[in-house]
Amino acid sequence: MRALITPGRSLGGRVGVPGDKSIAHRWLMLAATARGPSRLVGLPASLDVRSSAACMAALSPKARPALEVWARNALAPVEDGGSTWNGVATAPEEPALEVEGDGRDGLVEPAGDLDCGNSGTSMRLLAGMLASAAFRSVLVGDESLSARPMDRVATPLREMGARIHTVDGHAPLTIEGGDLRGIRFEAPVPSAQVKSAVLLAGLDAAGVTTVVETVPTRDHTERALAALGAPITLDERGITVSAFRHEGFAGRVPGDPSSASFLVAAATLTGSTIEIEDVGLNPTRTHYLDVMARMGVRTEVTIMREELGEPVGSIVVRGDATLAPVRVDERELPLVIDEVPVLALLAAHAQGDSWFLGTRELRIKESDRVRMVVEGIRGLGGDAGDEGDDLVVAGGGLRGGFVDSGGDHRMAMAFAVAALAAQGPSEIDRIDAADVSFPGFVGALRALGASVEARS
Ligand code: S3P
Repeated sequence: MRALITPGRSLGGRVGVPGDKSIAHRWLMLAATARGPSRLVGLPASLDVRSSAACMAALSPKARPALEVWARNALAPVEDGGSTWNGVATAPEEPALEVEGDGRDGLVEPAGDLDCGNSGTSMRLLAGMLASAAFRSVLVGDESLSARPMDRVATPLREMGARIHTVDGHAPLTIEGGDLRGIRFEAPVPSAQVKSAVLLAGLDAAGVTTVVETVPTRDHTERALAALGAPITLDERGITVSAFRHEGFAGRVPGDPSSASFLVAAATLTGSTIEIEDVGLNPTRTHYLDVMARMGVRTEVTIMREELGEPVGSIVVRGDATLAPVRVDERELPLVIDEVPVLALLAAHAQGDSWFLGTRELRIKESDRVRMVVEGIRGLGGDAGDEGDDLVVAGGGLRGGFVDSGGDHRMAMAFAVAALAAQGPSEIDRIDAADVSFPGFVGALRALGASVEARS
């Protein structure tokens, strides 16, 4: 499905974004392995989260009926090329998941392969959970996920005692879990998925498990475990956890700040004022607002409540037409790892060249996002270059043009918002990839007043 975007409209209003995908994976896995009932509201219907739900259903007979009902109800109708065309995705009556867990010991050998679809978080976190399970499981993924590196998670889990087979460092992952021992793991690459896998394994290991990060990454696993009462400590020596069994819990998943980043960019580029409500404001996820502030983007952030250790509130964007170029250093890159596409497309509208340094990890996301940014900006009538490990984006605006998302959700959305401020119309092919993390994305843009039409 292709979208025709006609620039020139100003946006306005208040909007929500679907629940945070990162948090949803973690809370789902924790709820299905809790001892007792949990109630989760606001789980997004995104494809990635449905992959985690389906895998947990295959592993936990007690949680299976509820997970299957949730997955059925959460399934937005896929018509007109994808649920991204539907209205705003967050509705107050969204289905709650009331799930009964039976502890980690209640997991059983799955009848078939566990399909993680496009979701790296499902695959890597499940690997950590299954490392201590006394049965064999096989984790598979789609073509994009099967090309992403899995040794980074297999290596520390093997060191803890799990038997893990990869195919040249890639999925399928065959895991034969068993008794684990705690390790001290110094993460060679900054990765919240790998950190989380080791911590989840550490909850079912003998002794103490410590993860040392050279650069901080998102901390949703640590926050959830601390809120559940786990023996987890965080200090300058690292994050330490030891064996722990948790009870059921309740929570409303905060709106996804990464999804919100596209709406912040859309409002900025169209000189509009909008409010994004009920959005997660965990500082390990909102660093993109600091980068945008350096470019001149004006936002007001208000924290209103906490959910299982996660701050939640609103972001008001007051659009401003003049954007300064920016330089994002290698050390801060992990804190904006999912927002580089939108920041780079925003930078194409700045007054001067912007630099993103040390972008290697971006090449092994859902697509090679460095190449996609460069090709996409050129397709939309701007210029960008790939300078070895660094990405440079020329400012000066976009003329409009044609671009393909390549099936990568964040690329689809970054191209769409950048096109709102181009000189002429643009077509974005495979816009429906947005469903992977932001079902209702096009619906949200249209509700705010943008001109986005379907072209088949
Ligand atoms: C995620 C961590 C990041 C991020 C991904 C979600 C998570 O990946 O890019 O979208 O939920 O832990 P890495 O751990 O590979 O950096």
